[in-house]
Amino acid sequence: MKPGLPCLLAVLCLLHSDTASVGGAIATSTHFRTTASTSLLTSDFSSTSASGSGWSTPGSESQSFSNFTGSKDDRGTCQCSVILPDTTFPVERVERLEIIAQTISQKFEKEFSKVKEYVQLISVYEKKLSNLTVRIEIMEEDTISYTELDFELIKVEVKEMEKLIEQLKVGFVGSSVIVDQLEVEIRNMTLMVEKLETLDKNNVLAIRRQILALKNKLKECEDSKVGNLPALPPPPAPGSCAHGGVVNISRPVIVQLNWKGFSYLYGAWGRDYSPQHPGKGLYWVAPLDTDGRTLRSYRIYNTLDDLLLFTNAQENWIYYGQGGGIVVYKNNMYVNWYNTQNIAKVNLTTASVALTQTLPDAAYNNRFSYANVDWQDIDLAVDENGLWVTYATEASTGNMVISKLNDTTLEVLNTWHTKQYKPSVTNTFMVCGVLYATRTLNTRTEEIFYYYDTSTGKEGKLNILMHKVKEKLQSINYHPFEQKLFVYNDGYLLNYDLVFQQIPQ
Ligand SMILES: *[C@@H]1O[C@H](CO)[C@@H](O)[C@H](O)[C@H]1NC(C)=O
Ligand SMILES: *[C@@H]1O[C@H](CO)[C@@H](O)[C@H](O)[C@H]1NC(C)=O
Ligand SMILES: *[C@@H]1O[C@H](CO)[C@@H](O)[C@H](O)[C@H]1NC(C)=O
Ligand SMILES: *[C@@H]1O[C@H](CO)[C@@H](O)[C@H](O)[C@H]1NC(C)=O
Ligand SMILES: *[C@@H]1O[C@H](CO)[C@@H](O)[C@H](O)[C@H]1NC(C)=O
Ligand SMILES: *[C@@H]1O[C@H](CO)[C@@H](O)[C@H](O)[C@H]1NC(C)=O
Repeated sequence: MKPGLPCLLAVLCLLHSDTASVGGAIATSTHFRTTASTSLLTSDFSSTSASGSGWSTPGSESQSFSNFTGSKDDRGTCQCSVILPDTTFPVERVERLEIIAQTISQKFEKEFSKVKEYVQLISVYEKKLSNLTVRIEIMEEDTISYTELDFELIKVEVKEMEKLIEQLKVGFVGSSVIVDQLEVEIRNMTLMVEKLETLDKNNVLAIRRQILALKNKLKECEDSKVGNLPALPPPPAPGSCAHGGVVNISRPVIVQLNWKGFSYLYGAWGRDYSPQHPGKGLYWVAPLDTDGRTLRSYRIYNTLDDLLLFTNAQENWIYYGQGGGIVVYKNNMYVNWYNTQNIAKVNLTTASVALTQTLPDAAYNNRFSYANVDWQDIDLAVDENGLWVTYATEASTGNMVISKLNDTTLEVLNTWHTKQYKPSVTNTFMVCGVLYATRTLNTRTEEIFYYYDTSTGKEGKLNILMHKVKEKLQSINYHPFEQKLFVYNDGYLLNYDLVFQQIPQ
């Protein structure tokens, strides 16, 4: 509607009459004639109405023209202006209404364009959502092939969508079913991504495989380069002690993250050893609770492949072990029992406690644990000769004490006293009756710096560098058949190969 509307209301009334008397005498011989000199009467014209005899309205058909005035000009033309009363046609109100309608329609246009924009955005994001869903489904089906990067990309995209949905909600003021629905879907997707990510441990496996392949290539390359240098002496036979002790150690192989995840920084892992079946032991992984103290559950795997793939795991619960000084020997787990001076012998496959036995004089409950690691006052060890325990006593003033145990009865068979203060070493392991101790050089390197030979009572310094992937070592176990160390490093499971001194033939 345009403001010209009131024009339509203009009424022209031209009256030509010989008689001056008009009044109610319209019906008499009055002569009507329209002249050329019509004048347009607009609503504002009404103000110019000549005051004169107020013409009253006769007849019911004129009732609506409730107020008008008239005048006669000098040529005898009678002019009248009619004022349309408000009740009949509220011009001003229409005008006001028109203005309101205009502003409303402008606002509507604005809102509508916003809605159109939102609808476009929503359809774009709907497409993105379904794209993401497809990608996640692919990843779900194929758990090995996806990478960390996939997760990062998807997480960024999901974040973006969350932001958009927030904006949409503010923009829409109140709620819209489609936005709410999208929000639920996006939240669902966030959960799904998080859930998938916890399954992402296989990455470690994939990376490990790559590293292994690269290492092999490197080795081939080196071999071809230095083909005619004297070959390394062959390692001693598995389980044999025909060597002069540990002289070097390989770089670590990251086997995997422990099965409980990143936050389980404390624990131990290893492989069962028994002299009767040296190469047949189960693999075990025992993360402690996040308190770094309590051992409630562990997993065992028949093969290394099972461990790497997290398949065919058997999970056992015990109440409770304490600290990461855990070993497994002849299918029994040995561990310091919670809040006691005792060592417990636990059937590995049934998790039933076969025996607990006090370790005489041993300090416990964090009296003399290792540097960086609490609750490991009593640290068990296995080597070619059997079961050992390293601890400290008040009488030893915190220096390490080594005892050989009868693995059937947990009786102490023999004891040696070292001059090395236990809380200043980070961990220990036994090889062929020799205790080796490590200390921290920096966040990336440990040093095997000390040994005690129980067969000679000799002790001394070493400086064998030991690289690590994280800052702290929580436990070290030696496997006599593999001649490897099994190290728990801030939640990661590492393997190291030991290099022994050759005994000249
Ligand atoms: C006619 O209009 C005049 C002035 O515009 C007003 O004072 C008067 O009340 C009106 N009469 C009727 C009957 O509406
Ligand atoms: C998903 O989007 C990516 C790029 O954003 C594109 O490369 C890929 O083909 C899309 N996938 C599907 C299933 O639409
Ligand atoms: C969330 O995702 C799961 C699995 O894809 C699906 O079963 C469920 O219906 C979804 N929930 C909503 C509210 O979309
Ligand atoms: C120990 O082994 C590393 C490689 O793993 C080698 O670089 C280093 O020279 C060796 N050290 C000794 C003393 O043999
Ligand atoms: C553990 O328990 C099982 C079942 O009772 C038994 O067969 C096995 O011999 C036990 N292992 C050890 C090492 O005692
Ligand atoms: C360990 O104790 C058992 C049972 O008393 C005994 O038969 C065995 O000979 C002992 N082993 C050693 C090495 O002393």
